[in-house]
Amino acid sequence: MSTIAMSDNITTRIENGILYLTINRETKLNALNIQTLKDIKEAIIAIYENKEVQGVILTGAGAKAFAAGADIAEFANFNVEEGTRMSADGHGVLNAIEKCPKPVIAAVNGFSLGGGCELAMACHIRVAAENAKFGQPEVNLGLVPGYAGTQRLAQLVGRGRALELLVTGDVINAAEAHRIGLVNHVVPQDQLIAKCEEILNKVKSKAPLAIASVVRCVNAHYDKKMDGNNVEINEFGNFFGTEDFKEGTQAFLEKRTANFKG
Ligand code: COA
Repeated sequence: MSTIAMSDNITTRIENGILYLTINRETKLNALNIQTLKDIKEAIIAIYENKEVQGVILTGAGAKAFAAGADIAEFANFNVEEGTRMSADGHGVLNAIEKCPKPVIAAVNGFSLGGGCELAMACHIRVAAENAKFGQPEVNLGLVPGYAGTQRLAQLVGRGRALELLVTGDVINAAEAHRIGLVNHVVPQDQLIAKCEEILNKVKSKAPLAIASVVRCVNAHYDKKMDGNNVEINEFGNFFGTEDFKEGTQAFLEKRTANFKG
């Protein structure tokens, strides 16, 4: 077991190939102040090239909140320039999660509101505890989402459902979030981390280069500067020059389990 980041705002632990990243501001319902987001970004980028880590479970401390939003007390007095910088920096943090070459799973253990919902949406997969609550309540604060909520919510649940949630500020429960496709699974809270581990344990047996490539290909679809189909064609072709491709196909033909080296 090892850690990769020292911070009061987050805790990290690497065990059995998984980075457990926990937002550690329980008394503030894990509200995301700017430093916490920086710390999350640092911890995620630190494992991009770390061969010991094959996946990430991101959660919030305590049983009540994943993250109840950006830290309202911190930004309440920001001016236009500071607000713009806060949003741009937040986009950068969430993009770093989305681009992570190892799957990042949000283990949503309670309130996932505003920036907390946006953080969960930047992850590749979302697993919710039965008590989880989701919403983008920024309109109640005289604001819009600033960490790509208007973009990723529409991608995940469709434009109509996203717009309804965004303009009403409605908070929905885990079952409804599952019904509309915002989360992949809903489980009892005491099984939340185990469910995430079950998913990542499947990932761990696959070819790491292929996992990273899948993430790049899917991300390319949503990147207006890229042609996702061309990205996939190039990525696919490049695999024919890798050892893992040779090992995977050979193992299939020899009816044995592949031993991928990445
Ligand atoms: N930013 C800063 N502090 C927050 C916060 C946020 N987004 N969400 C909760 N907190 C703090 C509260 O201020 C309180 O701190 P205090 O004990 O020092 O007063 C503590 O976390 C506990 O929250 P509290 O509101 O007392 O808990 P609750 O169970 O009554 O309500 C919520 C829970 C989630 C409904 C409520 O905290 C809330 O509405 N939070 C803001 C949600 C939001 O608008 N998020 C979008 C922000 S862009």
